[in-house]
Amino acid sequence: MILGIESTAHTFGIGIVNEGRILCNVKDMYVTEKGGIIPIDAAKHHVKVADNVLKQALQKAGISEKDINGIAFSQAPGLAPCLVIGMRFAKKKALELGIPIIPVNHCVAHLEIGRITGAKDPVLLYASGANTQIIAYASGKYRVFGETLDIGVGNFIDNFARYLGIGFPGGPAVQKLAESGKYIELPYSIKGMDVSFSGVLTKLKQMKESGKYADEDLCFSLQETIFAMLVESAERALAHTGKKELLLGGGVACNIRLQEMCKIMCKERGAKFFAPSLNLLTDNGAMIAYLGEIMFKKNLGIEGKDIEKIDINPRERTDDVVVKWK
Ligand code: ATP
Ligand code: FE2
Repeated sequence: MILGIESTAHTFGIGIVNEGRILCNVKDMYVTEKGGIIPIDAAKHHVKVADNVLKQALQKAGISEKDINGIAFSQAPGLAPCLVIGMRFAKKKALELGIPIIPVNHCVAHLEIGRITGAKDPVLLYASGANTQIIAYASGKYRVFGETLDIGVGNFIDNFARYLGIGFPGGPAVQKLAESGKYIELPYSIKGMDVSFSGVLTKLKQMKESGKYADEDLCFSLQETIFAMLVESAERALAHTGKKELLLGGGVACNIRLQEMCKIMCKERGAKFFAPSLNLLTDNGAMIAYLGEIMFKKNLGIEGKDIEKIDINPRERTDDVVVKWK
């Protein structure tokens, strides 16, 4: 029985996994009315909700603390003040219960949770708030084949949504408006397998400012353009690696149009398409517990005095992670 704690950014989540089965996946998200996420405030939020999220998680799973064999936590990457809260909580519980902790890389957890969908060796299109990466496993590591050169795709969408005044998170609101929009050409920015969004963002804001375009059309064109960039990069990674599976991860992957475009691309090149359910796509504790259990079984937990030596790693990259569990 492995408990996993997620706290890289706005979400404090706890999931419990047993033999690859998810027993619960509870989360509490810090939301802002205006402006972006303030790391210190998000961290305060996590401190406030932690005990209650744990209580709910144990209740939902129908177990008591004593049944837990290990505690996984998101060690990297993310906002330092938020990561620290999750780590402290993990350490305290592990020491109390006399069980190991398992430090997990958040991005890799987004990928590994894909196994639950049946994907075995996929290319991952990881499209979340802060991260946009095309990742696949090759000779001992998760390699980043393509990524954003500036902002994450979710932050880009949220930024434009705020500009339109349609609230946060912007993804669902943009998707809704796009349903009744039509296509206007926007800059398309892909270099090799890397993408960039800041040019498109500036252009969209100028178009909004001009007063000549409907919000619906801007949102529709935004989706068509940037999702085409992501799908192109993912397709190149499939071609380059010779892999036959595409897996989605991250909150932006909840988007219906992005999923549809990915499915079409997969069908055209004979690849299989996989997407976890929505509550496993956005940040969550279950994916941390899921990878934690895989690592725990390979004796990658850390126990006793060594627990104190563990620290967060806010800038760890996906390709820095030494994959010892495969
Ligand atoms: P990271 O995983 O990089 O730490 P995060 O914690 O911000 O980032 P997630 O919780 O995975 O990311 O996803 C949040 C993002 O997903 C937000 O930017 C939100 O706008 C976006 N999002 C959610 N639903 C949709 C949707 N239907 N269409 C597009 N974007 C969406
Ligand atoms: Fe994430």
